[in-house]
Amino acid sequence: MSTLKEQLPWTSSPLLVNAPMAGFAGGKLASAVTLAGGLGMIGSGFDMDALRKEIGIAAEEVKRSSSSGPVTSSMSGRTLLPIGVGFLPFALKLDDVLPVIAEFRPAVVWLFAPESVDGYAEWAAAVRKVSPESRIWVQLGSVAAALHVAKMARPDVLCLQGADAGGHGFERGASVISLLPEAADALARDGFSHIPLVASGAIADGRGVAAALALGAQGVVMGTRFLASREVNVHPLYQAAVLEAQDGGQVTTRSKLFDQLRGPSIWPEVYDGRALRTQSHKDFECGVRLEEIQKLHNEAVAGEDRGFKTGLEGRAAIWAGTGVGLVKEVKGAREIVETVRQEAKDILSKVTKL
Ligand SMILES: Cc1cc2nc3c(=O)[nH]c(=O)nc-3n(C[C@H](O)[C@H](O)[C@H](O)COP(=O)(O)O)c2cc1C
Repeated sequence: MSTLKEQLPWTSSPLLVNAPMAGFAGGKLASAVTLAGGLGMIGSGFDMDALRKEIGIAAEEVKRSSSSGPVTSSMSGRTLLPIGVGFLPFALKLDDVLPVIAEFRPAVVWLFAPESVDGYAEWAAAVRKVSPESRIWVQLGSVAAALHVAKMARPDVLCLQGADAGGHGFERGASVISLLPEAADALARDGFSHIPLVASGAIADGRGVAAALALGAQGVVMGTRFLASREVNVHPLYQAAVLEAQDGGQVTTRSKLFDQLRGPSIWPEVYDGRALRTQSHKDFECGVRLEEIQKLHNEAVAGEDRGFKTGLEGRAAIWAGTGVGLVKEVKGAREIVETVRQEAKDILSKVTKL
């Protein structure tokens, strides 16, 4: 098993990654992050044609700036696209996904949320068959799941996702502050200390990155921070709500309600999601019936603002982590990567002088 730098030779340390947020993280965001020396990720939804288009955009952008052009796998001499692509196995068919992976050969294939934890082994084996050099990254939120996946799926990297994370995650979880070191200890005890770990969940600036590295992570995945990038695909009111939000533990909450707003949830039972406590959730807290909340939601999302509003008054889900209070302005993804990387380095050099 190789180090992260060997796996991703164009990247700079500390490794920063944008989360593969389906519908939000497309080719523009991913290429900007990769070209800034991070790992740019595209999030796949259900539509493989839309995914092909986004990967094509990223490939084109990366090719134009050929310094971090397609990377060569040291093992085979074959080229990989220096981009990651994230999939949600519970919602997708392998038969639909594998041709896309074979066609583009992304450096990283990110897997999150199969129907049951055993699904990772099936997906990892199938992906390795069509693109043996692509690295398999798995995001999960418990020590037990980390051990299970390490044994069954032989991931190249595990991303430990803390409960503070925006979007979907384990309903029951700990923050990375204990999850990551506990998982690292357990993995080392069982002979898996060679699997690099990265951290996600409420990391939004250099302080969070430095902390994650101190906990034993080799890199960091940020989602919410990139919702305030220029390259992200996001409704302006969604982005305005993210910028406005303060006191992340108060204005966000974990709930299964967000997956039930359109109708019955399609997510596997162990997952819920963290989002802003918008009007739909406030109604839920006050005991308004689910059917009524759904009706108001579905009316609102048909409108021009698609149910997004500032002031926590919207009805559509606004996925965001507790780090949302640290996200204050929209910047280019390159600037985010470079600033956060430098902040982390400065903090780490200050701390080592203590
Ligand atoms: C808007 C949004 C959409 C997300 N969509 C996905 C997704 O499609 N696939 C996935 O693996 N993770 C998804 N996530 C979770 C991220 O992988 C990651 O765990 C999270 O963003 C980290 O927490 P942070 O948002 O506080 O940085 C999403 C997160 C957000 C905020």
